[in-house]
Amino acid sequence: MADNQYQTALVTGASSGIGAAVARALTALDLEVYALARRHEPLAELAEEVGCIPLVVDLNDTAKVDNAIADLAIDVVVNNAGLGRGYDGLAQSTNDDIERVVNTNVAAVLQVTRTVMRGMIDRRRGHIINLGSIAGLHPTGLALYGASKGAIHLLSQNLRLELRGTGVRVTEICPGRVETPYFATALDDPAKANSFTEGLTCLRPEDVADAIVYAVRAPWHCNVSTIELQPTEQTVGGAQIDPVNRTL
Ligand SMILES: NC(=O)c1ccc[n+]([C@@H]2O[C@H](COP(=O)([O-])OP(=O)(O)OC[C@H]3O[C@@H](n4cnc5c(N)ncnc54)[C@H](OP(=O)(O)O)[C@@H]3O)[C@@H](O)[C@H]2O)c1
Repeated sequence: MADNQYQTALVTGASSGIGAAVARALTALDLEVYALARRHEPLAELAEEVGCIPLVVDLNDTAKVDNAIADLAIDVVVNNAGLGRGYDGLAQSTNDDIERVVNTNVAAVLQVTRTVMRGMIDRRRGHIINLGSIAGLHPTGLALYGASKGAIHLLSQNLRLELRGTGVRVTEICPGRVETPYFATALDDPAKANSFTEGLTCLRPEDVADAIVYAVRAPWHCNVSTIELQPTEQTVGGAQIDPVNRTL
């Protein structure tokens, strides 16, 4: 049973990786979980497995997003959907790379948060959980992705100020490398994509879900503000960096 009287959750990007693990973990806390992503099939499989409610929506379609979530009374929102592009550098990035990253990682997070937080404020109960990244806290040589996750860092900190006195909590989770399809989306060359997870024991999606469960279950007076977690074998600014092929 979840503490803090939370009853419902919305997890974006629940069709894969971290989001699917979070949807599993929150349903295990007996929350009613709305699982949002574009792909119907993996959401339907997840629904079959854990009993969550699929929402097949493209977060870049602002009208459909409002239509899907505006009437839901959400206690916990996990803004997890996101992607990386521009790994060869901002100079090599396309307009499409920039639009996808900024619209999904930043604009959609603002829209979803704005929409669900109104009900949270009215009910004086809620928890906004944003997936940042170590790339949003430290320079990792990823200008485009880092800019988007840096925005999530300041969004989270400013929301804590805007929401003071409302009872609504805000948590930012900043992982290092997690073994998910993220790198296959970020890099078109499969060999380069694999190089980010080979030779290193990455975090598992469940490690990130555990951190979120910790934040959700913390007693009401305790706002878990920022959690940074990295593979033991990964360090930001460490000596292992290969400046040609890899960022940290
Ligand atoms: N993996 C890492 O090393 C790592 C590290 C730090 C932070 N993160 C962050 O963690 C979050 C989850 O990433 P992941 O590693 O789990 O990657 P992933 O397995 O590729 O999952 C990304 C999820 O986002 C969804 N998504 C993408 N664009 C969408 C859109 N326009 N509308 C709706 N859903 C959309 C995808 O679902 P559909 O394709 O079905 O829409 C998918 O469920 C991201 O914000 C990422 O930046 C990842």
